[in-house]
Amino acid sequence: MKNFTVLAVLLTTCGAASIETWAADSQASYLKHCSLCHQPDAQGIPGTFPRIWGRVGQIAATPEGAAFVAQAVLWGMSGTISVDDVPVTGVMPGVPHVSDEEITAIVEYLITEGGTVKNTSAFSLETVKAARAGGRVPQAATNALRNELFEAGVIK
Ligand code: HEC
Repeated sequence: MKNFTVLAVLLTTCGAASIETWAADSQASYLKHCSLCHQPDAQGIPGTFPRIWGRVGQIAATPEGAAFVAQAVLWGMSGTISVDDVPVTGVMPGVPHVSDEEITAIVEYLITEGGTVKNTSAFSLETVKAARAGGRVPQAATNALRNELFEAGVIK
């Protein structure tokens, strides 16, 4: 089930408070695992850490992009990428110690920009489970995949 369907069900059955709780919990997970580099507002630091606020929904719009996001977050990536027309060179360690559910909550928090944007992406818990089942991917290989998807226009 797509996240926005879950949100819609939650809205009708439990009221808006559940959405607020979900957003607060997933924001806390984001702050704990990602904000050191990507910054608390997820705007990154140009040239050093990519901006991921307002970008992850676009990146995860296709199944290929969604699979890339899960792979990158789970196993990390390293090398050079282009973000907002600025090259970013760095290492992201990945978070294999974090559960599939918590990773999903973090990514959906980014996709929905804290629950304010509808999730129309191809990303779900199943995407993370598939990435974990596929086994660890070298960080340089995930960087190469990202740059292929960027060249193909899948990632903007
Ligand atoms: C230690 C710093 C660090 C942490 C912690 C970190 N990242 Fe990253 N992240 C990076 C760097 C650096 C890159 C770019 C890597 C490259 O150039 O190959 C990146 C890339 C990404 C990308 C791909 C962006 C793109 O345009 O392709 C996503 C998505 C992402 N991070 C999400 C997350 C999430 C979600 C978390 C928390 C679970 C997280 N990151 C934690 C440093 C970090």
